[in-house]
Order: sequence, then structure tokens, then C-alpha cells
Amino acid sequence: MMDFWASLKKPFFVLAPMADVTDAAFRVLIASIKTPDVTWTEFVSADGLYHTREMKKIPDDENPLMRDLQYSEAERPIVAQLFSSKPEMMEYAAELVAKLGFDGVDINMGCPDKSIERQGCGAAMIKTPDKAVEVIEAARRGVAKHAAATGTVPIPISVKTRIGYNKESIDEWIPVLLRTNLPALTVHLRTRKEMSKVVAHWELMPRIVALRDEIAPNTKIIGNGDATDLADAQKKIDESGCDGVMLGRGIFGNPWLFTGRTNADVPIEEKLEALATLAHSFQALRPAKSFHIFKKHIKAFVSNFDGAADLRAILMECEDAGQIEETIANYRALPRA
Ligand SMILES: Cc1cc2nc3c(=O)[nH]c(=O)nc-3n(C[C@H](O)[C@H](O)[C@H](O)COP(=O)(O)O)c2cc1C
Repeated sequence: MMDFWASLKKPFFVLAPMADVTDAAFRVLIASIKTPDVTWTEFVSADGLYHTREMKKIPDDENPLMRDLQYSEAERPIVAQLFSSKPEMMEYAAELVAKLGFDGVDINMGCPDKSIERQGCGAAMIKTPDKAVEVIEAARRGVAKHAAATGTVPIPISVKTRIGYNKESIDEWIPVLLRTNLPALTVHLRTRKEMSKVVAHWELMPRIVALRDEIAPNTKIIGNGDATDLADAQKKIDESGCDGVMLGRGIFGNPWLFTGRTNADVPIEEKLEALATLAHSFQALRPAKSFHIFKKHIKAFVSNFDGAADLRAILMECEDAGQIEETIANYRALPRA
């Protein structure tokens, strides 16, 4: 796949990167039901990739960061999200992502996590626009190296960001990114300061679209924040004029999201079966990750039906996928009134 962004039909609906949620295991389940128009990996530290592979020489099959870059063919187009404030690290990691066969690189410029910001990455990039541009250019150099070595076309570099740091600064910040001529720009419609605590400012999207029309007409604008399902996402596109919507938390407990089904549409039997499948896939694909991380799915899948709390309590005690499967089988065998 070359620059898949150019051939993507509007409107489109894409899966948000969510660390420890949309990992390889959950994405396999999502893609087995309906592949989103574009899928993102969780974010991965470019510096971490360099240090673990080049300095510590950890073999790829034992490297947890390389595990974060696992994907399956069914997920295409699949974009790897990276973060770094160091151009040389971004160049290295973007080249690696291209070598791994991803369809694109996305750069995180919106994460509010303190440990990420301390490295000058994520949302902190909004405060250092020159650095942001350098990092984008470095990623382009990285993918170009791989393209030159293999006689292929460089994979595209996109960005995901917010509308400002302490206050909304669309008119200052968004043009900086647009002038780099990105194929796609995702805007989470909140400032860094707002975290996820206020309703996303979809009313500001028309201004972002107008800037795009003026500065970089070929850049696809993806809106993000609070879209609950496909119908809601379509409404947001109709009202705001963006090209696509990125859905994040709506996928919690609902891998059927991209079929158009809402959480309430899916019978509990189907949810339990999917949860058992996910548990096995988590164990197979994320063997070094604590099973604890899988458990955040239990609350999302097992809720809103009679007996959900009791079943959830038992599932939370399980220590592996076999126990999850057995608990679900026992529950299903119970006589129903
Ligand atoms: C648990 C969790 C992990 C997240 N991890 C990432 C990440 O790795 N990279 C990123 O760009 N955004 C990350 N986000 C932000 C989401 O991609 C998205 O911007 C945000 O949840 C708003 O969209 P929504 O209202 O559709 O969920 C994360 C959000 C959550 C809830």
C-alpha cells in the first residue's frame, strides 16, 4: 500500500491509539469483526526503541517495545504511533517502522502524561513548534532511507495533536503543522490542560478545516473526542466538515463499534465469547504483560445485565485465559429463569 491516505474515501472512521487498550490482542479481535478504515498502534517511545535495540542489544523477540509494534495483515492500513523530541531518535524509529511493513507513521503531539512531557514529547511539543517541525522532518528522513534502500515509495507521516496547551491556540499551532504538508492530521478537540475532563470542542472544528483549506488543501483532517458510535461520528462530520473521525473510548467493551452496532445492540452471550477470545489472544501476543492489564476489558464487556456484578467479581479473580474461559462456560451453563 503506498500513500493510503490519498485513496481513502470520505467520510472515514479510524481507531484511536490507546496505550494498554488497543494492543495487538484487542486489535486482532476488532479486525476479526470489522477492520476500521485506519488502525493505530499504541504509542511507542522512539528513544526506547533505539536504546533497547542498539544500546542494550535486546533481541527483538524479547523486546517489549517491539511487541508493541506487532500487527496482523487484517489490520491494514495500520499506522505505528511514535513519540520523541529527539530528531535523531525519530529518524531511527521511523525507518524501523517502515522496515516492519507499516503503512504509515503517526507522531504523538498530544499526550498529557507527565512522564512523556518531561521528555519534551506528547503535548509538550505544542510549546516547541520548531522542534515539532524538526521531528516531522526527521521521521520523513527515516522512512525515506528505507524507501531508497528498497526502491519503494516512502510511507506517509501523520500527526495527532490537541487544540492548544493551556489555552486554545488553533490559529498559532495548527498552521505550523499544516505547513509541513501532512497527508493527515488528527485533532483531539481539547487543550492539554483540559485533559479529557470537558466536552470536546467540536464547535471549533470548522476553523481548523478553514485553515486546512487555505494552507494545505490535501491534508485530511480527522476530528477526535467523545464520538460514541458511528452514527454520532457521522453527525460530527456533517456538522463540522472534517474528513473523518477517530474513535477511542467507544471501543471499550464494543469491538463491534466499526460495524455500526452500539454496545446495547450486542447480546451478552456474544460479548462473553469475545472476552474469552480476547483473553487467549492477550496471553499469546502479550506474554510478558501482566494479566492485570487485560482485566480492564472485563468491566467494559461484563456490565449492564442481571448478574453482571457477580460474574465480574469472579472473572477479576482469574489468573489466566483458561480460567476466564472456564468461568464464562460455567456461567453460560447455569439454568436461566
Ligand atoms: C487509556 C487511554 C490510552 C490512550 N493512549 C493514547 C496513545 O497511546 N496515543 C494517543 O495519541 N492518544 C492516546 N489516548 C487518547 C485517545 O487516542 C483519544 O485521543 C482520546 O481518548 C479522546 O477520544 P475518545 O473520546 O474517542 O476516547 C489514550 C486514551 C485513553 C483513554
